[in-house]
Amino acid sequence: MDFKLRPIKETDIDNLVKFANNPKIAANLTNKFAYPYTKEHGLNFIQFAMSNTPAHVMAITINDELVGGIGIHPQEDIQCKNAELGYWLAEPFWGNGIISKAIPQMVEYGFKTFDINRIFARPFGSNYASQKVLEKAGFKLEARLSKTLFKNGEFQDELIYAIRKAD
Ligand SMILES: CC(C)(COP(=O)(O)OP(=O)(O)OC[C@H]1O[C@@H](n2cnc3c(N)ncnc32)[C@H](O)[C@@H]1OP(=O)(O)O)[C@@H](O)C(=O)NCCC(=O)NCCS
Repeated sequence: MDFKLRPIKETDIDNLVKFANNPKIAANLTNKFAYPYTKEHGLNFIQFAMSNTPAHVMAITINDELVGGIGIHPQEDIQCKNAELGYWLAEPFWGNGIISKAIPQMVEYGFKTFDINRIFARPFGSNYASQKVLEKAGFKLEARLSKTLFKNGEFQDELIYAIRKAD
């Protein structure tokens, strides 16, 4: 399926709220990604996404319509050579290889744009699809922390996957 990454725009709001408002997506993300996902959440997110130059967050689009998001977030202080990768895709588009292709594009953008040498992601132990897309993109499992996360009333393992600039 043909998709493109581009910076978030104010006009993405309707698609953002329509697709982000899904408990199956929120279940795999931090509580900052709320469910229910309201228009106010969407407007705050768009404001945050548009405030960073160069962009940290990209819309995943099909025919220029937002169907998901992927972000690379440079860290601070002694973590300053690292950035965290996060992503989600609208449920109707799952299983088409979109995120498997979007991650390498975002990794290339991240290493080119920011002064970092490591990009990491932290899927839950139960999120097999996310682990698979990271492995396919060349991320290595660096650590598995047992039951460190608490989401929707359950403890979850925290997996740390990373890719280095030199890889
Ligand atoms: C995880 C997510 C991003 C995957 O996006 P996607 O575009 O559907 O992923 P792809 O189609 O590129 O690849 C998914 C891979 O996982 C595999 N997969 C899916 N469900 C699986 C499962 N339960 N067990 C094992 N593998 C699974 C698929 O077979 C596919 O691998 P393949 O291409 O080798 O067949 C998407 O499901 C999503 O947005 N989930 C909710 C939010 C989320 O989890 N974000 C990541 C937080 S770390």
